[in-house]
Amino acid sequence: MSAQHEHVLIVDFGSQVTQLIARRLRESGVYCEVHPYNRLGKRFLDRFAPKAVILSGGPSSVHWDNSPRAPEAIFNLGVPILGICYGEQVICEQLGGTVQSSEEREFGRAQIEIIKDSPLFADLSPFEAVWMSHGDRVESLPDGFDVIARSENAPYAAIADEGRKIYAVQFHPEVVHTPCGARILRNFTHGIAGLLGDWTMAAFRAEEIAKIRAQVGKGKVICGLSGGVDSSVVAVLLHEAIGDQLTCVFVDTGLMRANEANEVVSLFRDHYNIPLVHVDAGDEFLGKLTGVSDPEKKRKIIGGLFIDIFDREASAVGGADFLAQGTLYPDVIESVSFDGGPSVTIKSHHNVGGLPARMKMKLVEPLRELFKDEVRALGRELGLNEQFVARHPFPGPGLAIRIPGEITPERVAILQKADAVYLDEIKKAGLYDDIWQAFAVLLPVRTVGVMGDERTYDYVLALRAVTSTDGMTADYFPFDHEVLGRMSTRIINEVRGINRVVYDVTSKPPGTIEWE
Ligand code: XMP
Repeated sequence: MSAQHEHVLIVDFGSQVTQLIARRLRESGVYCEVHPYNRLGKRFLDRFAPKAVILSGGPSSVHWDNSPRAPEAIFNLGVPILGICYGEQVICEQLGGTVQSSEEREFGRAQIEIIKDSPLFADLSPFEAVWMSHGDRVESLPDGFDVIARSENAPYAAIADEGRKIYAVQFHPEVVHTPCGARILRNFTHGIAGLLGDWTMAAFRAEEIAKIRAQVGKGKVICGLSGGVDSSVVAVLLHEAIGDQLTCVFVDTGLMRANEANEVVSLFRDHYNIPLVHVDAGDEFLGKLTGVSDPEKKRKIIGGLFIDIFDREASAVGGADFLAQGTLYPDVIESVSFDGGPSVTIKSHHNVGGLPARMKMKLVEPLRELFKDEVRALGRELGLNEQFVARHPFPGPGLAIRIPGEITPERVAILQKADAVYLDEIKKAGLYDDIWQAFAVLLPVRTVGVMGDERTYDYVLALRAVTSTDGMTADYFPFDHEVLGRMSTRIINEVRGINRVVYDVTSKPPGTIEWE
């Protein structure tokens, strides 16, 4: 939690888009955190001391048994409150209005008409396009509230108690389909709550460096470098904070992209002069993964080996007390599922919770409060080479989860070559920065082909490229067919062992980005 900035509390009722509220606020320089509605005890609220509160949307109906409510204490804080969608219904219900169950859902674009002046709508036009997604709707208002905007299907599209500074909207200002949404949120935080919006990357950098120094003292820290932007930023930030108390460890798992190991080692050792241990552990990783096909087992084995190696290297530097990790905010937000419990685990991603309990070192996680694009901004603030800052994310388990089925040295070598050609073509087409993540997947399937006059019986390669803002949702990238054709021809000509290339056109959801 940032001690020196004003905080906004986002109360999560389980909407799929709660995180977007946080992103919009952060974009306007306001520090905020998302917390589940059922974890907001008095001690938390006293400590957090929000300057404003936003109640998110959610999948429930206020008419269901045990459906979520805001803690009463929120309404007694005396700070501005904004309810969004389910948050509006909660405000009405708890403050004495009524909410009508409705069989009909309103979903999609709508137009609101602003019918009363309000600071929430400063600088907006009388009619604005918004995104609606709700079933129930408000039927009568609590005392002190007025309608400030209506739409065809939502007579109470926005309401306000200007005296108590409590506002609520039926639509979603946090999504891009509400073009005036960022303005509305800014009106709320800057205009109504009077926040300064002084949470910048330069401020974050200075504060985080002070925090790292306070946490680490004279202790020694090791930092696992993966070559990705997160761990690179952690390393450079830590080096600025604690200098030679930091040792970076680059574990070459043998499951990296072609040439990745050299690039990372030369950047950190030669360019930054950061002490770097290069552990060549390919045989160890591949040995332990022999015969393992299950994706979650692969992840556990790899996670376990990483920790063993870090423990070993920690002893080698004379006993490190801390392990630094590039954990990001989306990894630590506890999302609320439909029934208020934790949401289901789709994949046991790295970082939070993925560490074996036996690990002896304490964690330093300076990026815990940041979203991915904020990490990139911090990287630029730290002067990190654009080649690293703009890199596509790369998963900790590396190519292991891009080879469905059993991993063999032969398969790894084929995938490395094919993946390199694929990325080369993407860069040549000038598309690398338009894509959030691109990679190849070597399928454990052989098909028949013909090359020259010869029959071939080789592997199928799947190409994947997606656009996304944070990896939570993604769309497949619409390559021109010509570009795809060129990639396919080059891969089949240049990479022995592959005779067929396919392109994955699945979005997330329902797919995930990685195949495993
Ligand atoms: P999915 O496949 O869940 O991926 O849609 C979302 C993002 O997370 C990355 N990913 C991982 N990163 N360890 C990691 O460090 C993992 O086990 C892992 N699995 C997926 C994935 O590359 C994408 O950026």
